Amino acid sequence: MTTPVTLGFHHITLVSADAKRTQAFYQDVLGLSLVKDTVNFDDPNTKHLYFGSTAGEPGTLVTFFEWPSGSHGRYGVGGVHHLALKTASYETLLKWKRYLTDRDIHVSGPMPRGYFTSLYFRDPDGQVLEIATAGPGYAFDEPIGELGTMLQMPNLSQLPDGRDAAFINATTYPEPVPTIAAEMSLSGIHHITGMTDDINRASDFYHEALGLSLIKQSINQDDPETAHWFWANYDGTRVLPHSSWTLFGWTPRHPKSRDGVGQTHHVAFRAKDSAEQLTWQEHLRSMGLDVSDVMDRKYFTSIYFRAPDGQLLEIATDGPGFAVDENAGSLQGNQIPLPLSTTTQEHHNHEMEFGHLT
Ligand SMILES: [Fe+2]
Ligand SMILES: [Fe+2]
Repeated sequence: MTTPVTLGFHHITLVSADAKRTQAFYQDVLGLSLVKDTVNFDDPNTKHLYFGSTAGEPGTLVTFFEWPSGSHGRYGVGGVHHLALKTASYETLLKWKRYLTDRDIHVSGPMPRGYFTSLYFRDPDGQVLEIATAGPGYAFDEPIGELGTMLQMPNLSQLPDGRDAAFINATTYPEPVPTIAAEMSLSGIHHITGMTDDINRASDFYHEALGLSLIKQSINQDDPETAHWFWANYDGTRVLPHSSWTLFGWTPRHPKSRDGVGQTHHVAFRAKDSAEQLTWQEHLRSMGLDVSDVMDRKYFTSIYFRAPDGQLLEIATDGPGFAVDENAGSLQGNQIPLPLSTTTQEHHNHEMEFGHLT
């Protein structure tokens, strides 16, 4: 059987303590569309909000479970450190800095990362968010045909000892930016960064399990003692957008992540259709992984499994999509469908193993 290669991210699901506050932030402040306002099909008393592009395309979707009385989680090994959303250019990045800081949101950056330039801030629950420029891209420091083959050390100006912190802090857009201009729009997931305590094992896993290729071996530019590796859908000529999964290489003495408010619950990758999803399921089971049955999520179907570090991963189909219960041109996110049946024994078994899903 040929190992499938995922086209990249389908969605990321985070945990919020307050759906209204989360909606105000992601829709009103960050300008994402509310694609769907529904419930967690595994736990119909829990709200599930989907944000993304107007049409709700895979790779743009950021979703939230609302756990109003949930305790805060903690990032660590087996968890996700931050979610990066993409903006077009350095100029639009500076506009985002001015726009956010004028709203009293603390922003660090613009940080020169080489492959892109980044801003960092937190959402109302404490999740670390990044806005990163689309370019110049991963061929910044090595040929496009040789990405990931050798350790690439950042320039001194990208590292804490060489960075001009005063200049970075002072750099912003010179004029007030009261609204999100069209050119600023956040066009989906740029990358997602998690933590592992065995980066070689993780590299083997993401290649074997998801078909992702190692595209960058470098160090964490904020913690140069630590490795930072990147994987993506890469064919030697290009890196597919919305497919960059990156990991900080921590050590086993670092704490494990803990699920909860302000943390990522799971990361979903794409299968283009149900037949490909079944191929994944067979492939992942052949690796000895505990893989869930196919679950009907109405807008897509899903299988779940865990990475060796503990990250909960999902493979979700592109279809049928979010127009299945609304008109495609008018996704308002205001329809709460009835929960699907949650009565099968298999389902309950998987809920025990994986927690509340979708
Ligand atoms: Fe990042
Ligand atoms: Fe999901």
